[in-house]
Amino acid sequence: MPRIAIINGPNLNLLGKRETDIYGNMPFEQFLEQLKTKFPGVEFSYFQSNVEGELINEIQRAGTSHDGIVLNPAGYTHTSVAIGDAIAAIKTPVIEVHISNVHAREDFRKLSHVSGKSSGSIFGLGLKGYELAIQFFIDSKRT
Ligand code: DQA
Repeated sequence: MPRIAIINGPNLNLLGKRETDIYGNMPFEQFLEQLKTKFPGVEFSYFQSNVEGELINEIQRAGTSHDGIVLNPAGYTHTSVAIGDAIAAIKTPVIEVHISNVHAREDFRKLSHVSGKSSGSIFGLGLKGYELAIQFFIDSKRT
């Protein structure tokens, strides 16, 4: 059974309440239940933190225990060299996901310290981006 870690960064605990015009109305816990139903063959772990170091600890942990990491580092995407370094330090592949289209927003969101270290990036497809990343991991495990 593939083990996939979903790691969400700062303010994503407010999903469903926060800037709903950009991020939508669904709390992530509710979406996670949908993912578990959709992918019964996947063993998920979910971690969210507003603290940079905690995210790095979790990336390192999942980097030895999981087959894939779906990571939305939120605001730290644009500032955190250390999160980029953590991805580079592990062997587990990481897919970067952003709910919004970061390239259609403020200029500072165009810089990612994570994209260059990740297997791939998905942005602008809403929560569907997480689902597509998981499907990618499942498909690449089979081939
Ligand atoms: C985000 C985009 C980031 O720029 C922003 O800081 C977030 C969420 C997204 O999922 O669209 O908090 O990562």
